[in-house]
Amino acid sequence: MDKTKILFVCLGNICRSPSAEAVMKAKLSEHKLSDKYYIDSAGITGYHEGDSADSRMMQHAKKRAFQLTSISRPVKAKDDFANFDFIIGMDDSNMTDLFNLAQTDADISKLSKMTDYSIKFSETNVPDPYYGGSQGFELVLDLLEDACEGLISQLEEHKKKGS
Ligand code: 4NP
Repeated sequence: MDKTKILFVCLGNICRSPSAEAVMKAKLSEHKLSDKYYIDSAGITGYHEGDSADSRMMQHAKKRAFQLTSISRPVKAKDDFANFDFIIGMDDSNMTDLFNLAQTDADISKLSKMTDYSIKFSETNVPDPYYGGSQGFELVLDLLEDACEGLISQLEEHKKKGS
């Protein structure tokens, strides 16, 4: 069966979306589902293209045993909408930009926001931690860990119903 392909998107692709990528991969591995999914991340901007994840984000993630290995790249609208099944933004600003990049109803149907999948949290954005302190990075990871669990259960539930 084809892998389900998910692209996580934030502004710079050095804090939130590379963390979402790493957390999702780790959670899929815990659930023994790694071979069913392809996970990637990208940024609305190319400001940090070629860079590793932000060192502060990496440190906070490492404390929870998540390794951030991805290298920043900008969203490639045509290819990414063609290749991915789900394109998931981190905040309302990302969603506005993604809706503007979408060309067709099929593209639009692939879009959702990370906090749509939250189980425990009521936040409606994964806030940009770049200009803030430690708490912001911890909140990003708390929100992502919760939303990745929600996303996996929704996707697996959907697959069960479809089979
Ligand atoms: P991210 O965080 O969108 O979660 O990767 C940011 C990284 C860099 C900048 C802003 C947000 N920046 O302005 O350079």
